[in-house]
Amino acid sequence: MIKHAVFEKNSILLTVGILIVVAIGGIVELAPLFYLESTIEEVEGMRPYTPLELAGRDIYVREGCYNCHSQMVRPLRDEAERYGHYSLAAESMYDHPFQWGSKRTGPDLARVGGRYSDEWHVAHMVNPRAVVPESIMPGYPFLATTALDTSDIVDHLKANQIVGVPYSDEMIASAAADLAAQVDPDSDDLDAMMARYPKAQARDFDGNPAMISELDALVAYMQMLGTLVDFGTYKAEGENLR
Ligand code: HEC
Repeated sequence: MIKHAVFEKNSILLTVGILIVVAIGGIVELAPLFYLESTIEEVEGMRPYTPLELAGRDIYVREGCYNCHSQMVRPLRDEAERYGHYSLAAESMYDHPFQWGSKRTGPDLARVGGRYSDEWHVAHMVNPRAVVPESIMPGYPFLATTALDTSDIVDHLKANQIVGVPYSDEMIASAAADLAAQVDPDSDDLDAMMARYPKAQARDFDGNPAMISELDALVAYMQMLGTLVDFGTYKAEGENLR
């Protein structure tokens, strides 16, 4: 007790003392990060986006959907009950840039995959009021009538490979064929595409087989969101929310 007075009466000594104590705390927090390979817990089921999903994701970014929609279910009871299991870091590890968002004018979309039919999405994207009368979401009718520009899909995969997404050279070489196969269930390339991208959904998403439209890509992306990790078998360490 008496010794403490030394610090309290000498501001320089007190400052030095504070610095030492704070530095110890800082080292305890920071040092482990230099030895960890990754701070993302690995989770079964995650795979890179198929070329079609990636193209759909680019449209999502281009149209600014993130201005109204988040893609991150927070570990809060009300969110988990509305949207499903809270988002895992691993679920966005192949996202460049990530789409967590910070604004929810509309609902979170991290787990929207499989929640609605393709037909619902098509009707909703063309005119949201057709299926949700009170909706304030803008319509995107042009997506259905605009052919998807697939000329740069190889470059998109390559760019993702450069920033660490594990696209193999084979995936890059067959990107265009894989993209076409995913909207055409009769395609000969379908099995090879499914082997490269497990759990991929292949069908004519916009209901118009005459053309691969931007809407095909966007609906394919919507329908896969949150579907890769099987939460029936997933158990996080120390999980207590569900
Ligand atoms: C101005 C804000 C706004 C923008 C921009 C916007 N949305 Fe929405 N979105 C909403 C609102 C509000 C709803 C809830 C009402 C409804 O279902 O239409 C919604 C609902 C949705 C739903 C249904 C989600 C659910 O769980 O019911 C999907 C899917 C969706 N939006 C996709 C998109 C996509 C894809 C884009 C970009 C092309 C987009 N939205 C752009 C506001 C927006």
